[in-house]
This record gives sequence, structure tokens and C-alpha cells, in this order.
Amino acid sequence: MHAGREDLTGLGVHVPPIDLSTTNPLPSVDGGGDAYEALATGNPLPAGASAVYQRLWNPTVARFETALAELEGTAEAVAYASGMAALTAAVLAATRDGKRHLVAVRPLYGGTDHILATGLLGTEVTWARPDQVAAAIRPDTALVIAETPANPTLDLLDIAALAEAAGDVPLLIDNTVATPILQQPARHGARLVLHSATKSIGGHGDVLAGVVACDTEWAARLRQVRAVTGAILHPLGGYLLHRGLQTLPLRVRTQQAGAEKLAAWLSEHPAVTRVHHPGLDDPAGLVGRQMSGPGSLLAFEVRGGAPAAAAVAGACQLITHAVSLGGVDTLIQHPASLTHRPVEGDAKPAAALLRLSVGLEDPEDLREDLARALAAH
Ligand SMILES: Cc1ncc(COP(=O)(O)O)c(C=O)c1O
Repeated sequence: MHAGREDLTGLGVHVPPIDLSTTNPLPSVDGGGDAYEALATGNPLPAGASAVYQRLWNPTVARFETALAELEGTAEAVAYASGMAALTAAVLAATRDGKRHLVAVRPLYGGTDHILATGLLGTEVTWARPDQVAAAIRPDTALVIAETPANPTLDLLDIAALAEAAGDVPLLIDNTVATPILQQPARHGARLVLHSATKSIGGHGDVLAGVVACDTEWAARLRQVRAVTGAILHPLGGYLLHRGLQTLPLRVRTQQAGAEKLAAWLSEHPAVTRVHHPGLDDPAGLVGRQMSGPGSLLAFEVRGGAPAAAAVAGACQLITHAVSLGGVDTLIQHPASLTHRPVEGDAKPAAALLRLSVGLEDPEDLREDLARALAAH
């Protein structure tokens, strides 16, 4: 609620100012040069110095970063123009010294899976089950990448066990689905915590953004990559995300309560063969230990495979048929056709699976909409 706003009273304002400047007046050639050198190499803005140029640093984005780092329990955070820009920066920062091997645990968001599987960033990936991670590590392994709960199957991973298996290799956990309200991976040993802030953190479907929470050493690496690749978040996005954090706990808990009701109801429905939600399926007992609640995302498989799933998604009226998740209104989509379309082979989500991101509507209204859609399929 208050992080990143400490100076507002002194400024005589109640909400943070938005600084849209793409360039900043320089006190002198030497002063500007020193600030440029510091920022372009990933170091913090020297006290009282000019920020030089928006691609290097922006005070409105920095306020959001301060607040997000506080929530995740990390020293710093670095914000990007999208979740994929954040992931790309993390991979580039991890591989900058020449190590090019990554170990990744599936399932992952389709875009993440795709960028790793194609080697588009010059990396080689070994896909490992959690119990295979330690054996998959090589001398040239730069990063271990995992997602918990995973999008879209909501599989849970024990972060502390993964961090132990990764050893000296940094572990990146995508925390998008849990949000820092329900889970803080750095407390369990993750070195990098990534969010598609487009999702619950923004929460209203109007900001595309990503962020990595981490220690000071990694923040410098990540800011350097951001400065040279031009992937910084726009200040208007930074403002909206910072504002969004103020209602994040309320949204997460209310949406989670709706998801729990719908998951229980769907698991009794005759047209549904399986429901995926951490509240229903948590063999290792991670909800309550690693996560403080099961979250607002669920998935379910319908009888009749892909055609039936398509019919259900298309028949929803109150629920919007659209990708993305974590927002205030409920969305349904078919991962195998959309968010996870590029995922290859057995790693692709089941054809019968639909993902439901539960919003703030009355769960009874959502249940009625789903009942109608399931009856029509
Ligand atoms: C878990 C997860 N990580 C990363 C991303 C990528 O984020 P963005 O779409 O903001 O680039 C997404 C997007 O859906 C996601 O669901």
C-alpha cells in the first residue's frame, strides 16, 4: 500500500506523479556522462543525477519496482514492457558470460516453452522432471527455469527442493499464477522471480508488462540488458501496476474464493472428466506451506475432446472467450489452440482442456454461465 510512495508527503501530493519524459536535461557533459555510464551498465541512478534517457531509467517505473520487490521479499525488481521481454532479459543476463545451457521443467507458459524449445536466444535446453534437475545440470548450465503453479495445468513444484537440485545454478521461478500475495519464491531459494505483470498485478486487462524480482547483483545485470535492448516498461504502465498492487490482495482472495467454489462444482459435473486446481490436487501439501492459498486459475477437461471444449468456450456468455488471466473479469480459453499452441508433442496441453481465470463476478453467475455452456456442448 505504501511502498514506492515514501516521498509523496514531502512532494505535497497524495498519488505518485507520472514522469513521461523520454529525455532529461543534463547538468553538464561530465555529469550527464557519469549518469549515462552508471545506468547503461545496470547501476542505480547516482543521487541527484539526471536520468538522461527513458530507456535507461524512469522514476514512475522505479516506484512500481520498489513496491513489487517489497512484496516478493527481494532487494530489487526490474520491470519490462512484457512478461516475454522480462524472460528474454533473464535468459540474456544469465548467458552473458558464455554459458548457453538451460534446464527447464515443463509445463511452462506456451511462449516460454517456445522460446526455449526453438533456441531463438542462442540457448540449448534440457527438459527435466523435478527429480531430474540435479542430473541435468552441466558445467555450462546458466539457469534453471520453472513455473509453479504451472500454466495451464496448475501443477505445483516444491521450490526449495528445486533450488537445492539447482545448486549453484540460479533458479528462475515464474510466479505469475500465484502472485506475490500467495507465494514468494525468493523465500524458498529462487534467485529470480518473474511475473507477467499483464496478469494479476495489472489485474484490469489494460497493461502489458513483465517484472523480475531479485537481488542487487542480478538487478544490475537485468537493468543492463534492459537498457541496451530497449525493453523498459512505459511509465503509464508503471503507474497503473503500482496502483494495481494496492488492491492485489483483495482481488486475489476474492477471485480465489470464487475459483474454489467453481472447482468443487465442476468436479461433480457429468460433462467434466477432470478439474485442475491446487485446492483439489496437492499431493505434496504445498498449499499452506509454500503457497498461502490455491489461487484463482483453474482448468478442466470436458467429455468429447477438442470439439466439445471449443463448443463450451464458444457458448459462454458472461464469461469472455479470451486469452490472458488474473484480471477482474472471468476469461475462458483453449490452451492447446491458443496460449500453448507452439508447444510440441506430449508437452502440449490435453485437447479437452479449458483454462478458466476466475474474476470478481458473483460465483453463482459464473456457475450459471458454465452450466449453460456445458449443457449446450
Ligand atoms: C505464466 C506466464 N508467464 C509469462 C507470460 C508472458 O507474459 P506476457 O504475455 O506479458 O509477455 C505469460 C502470458 O500469458 C504467462 O501466463
